[in-house]
Amino acid sequence: TWTMLNIVDEQVGRIREQIGEGRAICALSGGVDSAVAAAIVQRAIGDRLTCVYVDHGMMRLGETEQVRSDFEAVFDTLDVVDAGDQFLGALEGIHDPEEKRKIIGREFIRTFEAAEARVFGDASDATTAYLVQGTLYPDVVESGGGAGTSNIKSHHNVGGLPDDLQFELVEPLRTLFKDEVRMVGEQLGLPPTMVWRQPFPGPGLGIRIIGEVTRERLDILRQADAIARAELTAAGLDRDIWQFPVVLLADVRSVGVQGDGRTYGHPVVLRPVTSEDAMTADWARLPYDLLEKISTRITNEVREVNRVTVDITSKPPGTIEWE
Ligand code: XMP
Repeated sequence: TWTMLNIVDEQVGRIREQIGEGRAICALSGGVDSAVAAAIVQRAIGDRLTCVYVDHGMMRLGETEQVRSDFEAVFDTLDVVDAGDQFLGALEGIHDPEEKRKIIGREFIRTFEAAEARVFGDASDATTAYLVQGTLYPDVVESGGGAGTSNIKSHHNVGGLPDDLQFELVEPLRTLFKDEVRMVGEQLGLPPTMVWRQPFPGPGLGIRIIGEVTRERLDILRQADAIARAELTAAGLDRDIWQFPVVLLADVRSVGVQGDGRTYGHPVVLRPVTSEDAMTADWARLPYDLLEKISTRITNEVREVNRVTVDITSKPPGTIEWE
């Protein structure tokens, strides 16, 4: 539409002014927000933009490979960083949700600083380093950045930023809502898989494991999550659902009977929601036969999980993610 084109033109002009002859790095998460932000900046400064995708070890099954193939088709420069050891090391022994978020935010920035040193080389001290982020209006509001709001959660790319940030931020989507970003993405000709991808939080599965994040727990959650997503897709409901988190209650155990014996395993929570902009949400009324299929498959195929529950809380009072 006319206004979306206007937004692109206006932002391209602004970014050219802000960055001048400089270079920028874009933090690609795999999601639509950072993809659209990067596409706008690529329009403005061409190959002086380097896109960096960080695999922090908390992505979903097959996600990094998917992102790599999708994004290499659109962006000229894509740097995939394997930072699982770094992030999971930093999260060892951490249980508190806000602490997890702050640590993840900090490690992201450290990773981008290292990427910047690689990309900018010797020039990195002399010039301003620009960091492009796909921050949306709701992220700003919910992290306490908007007028008269309080901090609900520190989004990894807003309230979770360290005080000694070495970058100047470029945030072309700061005034937009997700549906507007999707329209801009379509205007820019980005592929539908990118534009219509369901939101996934920057901290990834790290904030969907209630308790300490470990590799073993991530593996369990990854399997359960992959089953839930595959069945939602098979039912043809991807576009009807805003987002479908699966949460592992890693510190909780309950008794079950699987095969011919007693088990003492973990519950997972299915959290399908409908929403317009993630500021409010409603629990999605998924068909019973779909829920049944997901439950049966998860308890059959994921040995450590012996109970599947559904979260029927709206936002508010619940948030979409559990942490
Ligand atoms: P909540 O849980 O606050 O989530 O209802 C609202 C929306 O934001 C996503 N979310 C995040 N996205 N970094 C992100 O990029 C974050 O730190 C973060 N925390 C939550 C969440 O998945 C939902 O779409």
